[in-house]
Amino acid sequence: MAELAEQLRKELDRYSPGGKLPSSRALVERYRVSPVTVSRALGQLAAEGLVVTRPGAGAFRARPRTPLTAVGDTSWQEVALSADGAGDVVPRTVDASGVTICLATPPPGVIEFNGGYPHPTLQPEKAMAAALSRAGRRPGAWGRPPLEGLPELREWFAREIGGTVTAAEVLIAAGGQSALTTALRALTPPGAPVLVESPTYPGMLAIARAAGLRPVPVPVDAGGVKPALLADAFRATGARVFVCQPLFQNPTGTVLAPERRPEVLRIAREAGAFVVEDDYVRRLAHEDAGPLPRPLAADDPDGVVVHVSSLTKATSPSFRVGALAARGPVLERLRAIQIVDTFFVPRPLQEAALELVGSPAWPRHLRALSAELRSRRDAMTACLRLHLPELSLPHIPSGGYHLWLRLPDGTGGTSQAFGSGGESALTSAALRAGVAITPGRPYFSAEPPAGHMRLSFAAVAGEQEITEGVRRLRAACDEVL
Ligand SMILES: Cc1ncc(COP(=O)(O)O)c(C=O)c1O
Repeated sequence: MAELAEQLRKELDRYSPGGKLPSSRALVERYRVSPVTVSRALGQLAAEGLVVTRPGAGAFRARPRTPLTAVGDTSWQEVALSADGAGDVVPRTVDASGVTICLATPPPGVIEFNGGYPHPTLQPEKAMAAALSRAGRRPGAWGRPPLEGLPELREWFAREIGGTVTAAEVLIAAGGQSALTTALRALTPPGAPVLVESPTYPGMLAIARAAGLRPVPVPVDAGGVKPALLADAFRATGARVFVCQPLFQNPTGTVLAPERRPEVLRIAREAGAFVVEDDYVRRLAHEDAGPLPRPLAADDPDGVVVHVSSLTKATSPSFRVGALAARGPVLERLRAIQIVDTFFVPRPLQEAALELVGSPAWPRHLRALSAELRSRRDAMTACLRLHLPELSLPHIPSGGYHLWLRLPDGTGGTSQAFGSGGESALTSAALRAGVAITPGRPYFSAEPPAGHMRLSFAAVAGEQEITEGVRRLRAACDEVL
């Protein structure tokens, strides 16, 4: 297709602006390509503004656009966009940088240790394509879905959560990010504090800040959030929400210790607060993880937990289907906000999710993913220990797709480079060396205790890239150390 588009691009000068190009059939014959290739190539040129296609009439060379004589002055927007927060207690900050780090495609040749989703070769591409095509043919697939989501899909998510959660307590959401946004908007008024783990997922901090909320950090250790500090933070702030990732926490990879699970729920309950449980990588447990603890929502008769889960991490960032689950009056609040903000998740995608998780390919895919993640984790861990022993790796996770490393303390001398400025120096040096890493700073809502970085092993092509990426990181460390 690209070749044909290139050929046509070269030949466009033959036609006068507005002139008709040969018919699709003539192009098929002339270039001996399929009609689909012709239509894609013309589509490409149309997207570039070189060609205009008119259904039924054919394709025409585009007329050059008349340049605007006067360039507008948009500087007034700076005032307008800042003025809206004048009366806010907590200024609203809309900043997507924490999220785009994990979504951005690195420049060609750069090894992607910063990706937040599995490499295409780890995605169930065939199974997703088959599911989508079956879904598109289901009766009513393009109609309006029930606003809460397809009943069978709600049932599937309820079964996955387990315990006493029922389909009636589940709402289908457009992935975890959207579900977290709904939860935070539903549970907290602008200006309110929201307790967050420290460190935590920058995308959630971005949601909180964009909603005018004030994230208050509560430190995590090897057993997850520290209950005594959680209780202190509730007392000090009067917060009504705590956002928690009990399983394979992002970024530390830790799992909430069994004895802390009931404690966290009790502390929140006593504070009259909700726990938003972000169960984002349950389906990315490594082969050697052993049995997983149930979601907090499965053991929560009093409706303290608002549970968030998503299919994206185990499929593709574009498979934006997830769920919110909650018990009690809060469910209606969540439902209302979700409808106001997004109406509903496109029905074909919900149908495709049902097709996918019901297919024999799904458990096979999850098993293969879990084995691959385990060997990639081991490969990366071994490489780091060998080539970068000065970086400390406090926890080897048994789920998820990344490692969280602590940089040497910036206490003067040459290692000063690793203070918070050093973290960005290292990130830049790494990029120059050909490897993209995620610096630790955006994971902290207040001053971090040390420099950190997060290295993802899922977004790269394979173990060879892991070895090469660590080699490049070694070179970067040598440069800034
Ligand atoms: C902890 C956590 N929660 C939620 C999400 C959102 O993911 P998605 O919207 O693709 O489900 C992410 C993505 O990186 C994440 O790391």
